[in-house]
Amino acid sequence: MNDPAARVRIFDTSLRDGEQSPGCSMTSPQKLRFAHALAELGVDVIEAGFPASSDADREAVRAIAREVRGSTIATLARCHPGDIEACASALEGAVHPRIHVFISTSPLHREHKLGLSREQVIERAVMGVELARRHADDVEFSAEDALRTEPEFLAEVCSAAVAAGARTLNIPDTVGYTTPSEIRALFEYLRANVRDAAQAVFSAHCHNDLGLAVANSLAAIEGGARQVECTINGIGERAGNCALEELIMALRVRGEYYDAHTRIDARRLVPTSRLLSRITGMAVQRNKAVVGQNAFAHESGIHQHGMLKHRGTYEIMRPEDVGWAQSQMVMGRHSGRAALNDRLQALGFNLDESQLNSVFAGFKSLAEKKREVFDADLEALVLGADARA
Ligand code: KIV
Ligand code: ZN
Repeated sequence: MNDPAARVRIFDTSLRDGEQSPGCSMTSPQKLRFAHALAELGVDVIEAGFPASSDADREAVRAIAREVRGSTIATLARCHPGDIEACASALEGAVHPRIHVFISTSPLHREHKLGLSREQVIERAVMGVELARRHADDVEFSAEDALRTEPEFLAEVCSAAVAAGARTLNIPDTVGYTTPSEIRALFEYLRANVRDAAQAVFSAHCHNDLGLAVANSLAAIEGGARQVECTINGIGERAGNCALEELIMALRVRGEYYDAHTRIDARRLVPTSRLLSRITGMAVQRNKAVVGQNAFAHESGIHQHGMLKHRGTYEIMRPEDVGWAQSQMVMGRHSGRAALNDRLQALGFNLDESQLNSVFAGFKSLAEKKREVFDADLEALVLGADARA
């Protein structure tokens, strides 16, 4: 488990890929605050922004580079001198700066977006990486739309990027098109066919258009990826990016299967998710894995009964390990007597059999009218039953 080869670096792009999606924009002070939270969470690399895209982005990156410590600070650039110089200048205060350059490699993007031949794409990639290396030792290269690129050509571009000085090779599934078996095979192919592959860390960057971003990132790890790019709450372009909290807990809960470890402090997952949601005003869906309000909530009688006997019956991880205070037994129409009795005892009521029967009848009829029966409702039911007795 502590084999360094199995260490997976977590690259968070909430402040770049996440922030550029509808409903997620943040001010510069908000970005700075969130970058501190990401460093506390234990993220290895924080992608702080795309400095050439706006003055505001440049200012936010500058502030993060000056203040945030403990994580590498990365910034994005197209393979254009102006973009790369904007990154270099915004990163001036960073202790560990990284310049992340990208260019599209797929036939569709080469023809319709860039109007460039394969050779011209390689030339631009090499120019971008070499120029970035003049400003930073740590340079990442991304082949945009890699999963729709011819694998031999992708290996050629990646080989040229390594020769030019890139030390991280990012293989984005830009449009969330791949499947787990395909991406795993592609990572295996690239590790075998990129020249001097051992000099670079392979990285996955999966979008969620088919709801497969986390599954695809896990499969990329099986194929040899040792960096995963993700975002808190899975925010990002269109259907989002790989959700950091889901990836981390899949690696932990099924550790024996992935044999990969990260330096994330999982107890900070829920607080970080909530902070992002407060800052952006974008709610986390209730049934979202790990950080959604229902992730550790149980309402059905059978599940509540099982949970009271052994929490492992219906929970595969402990809520306190990801930052929740505890599991939640939601009292509602589906709840049973055992859970009701347990909750009443927690509220300080020890009822005999016949008292419990009478309160349970009152509870069931109330639960037909309300979605959720709260502690105050239960207290009123017990006190009302007492008064009638
Ligand atoms: O999805 C993508 O291809 C990207 C790259 C710019 C890394 O976000
Ligand atoms: Zn992306």
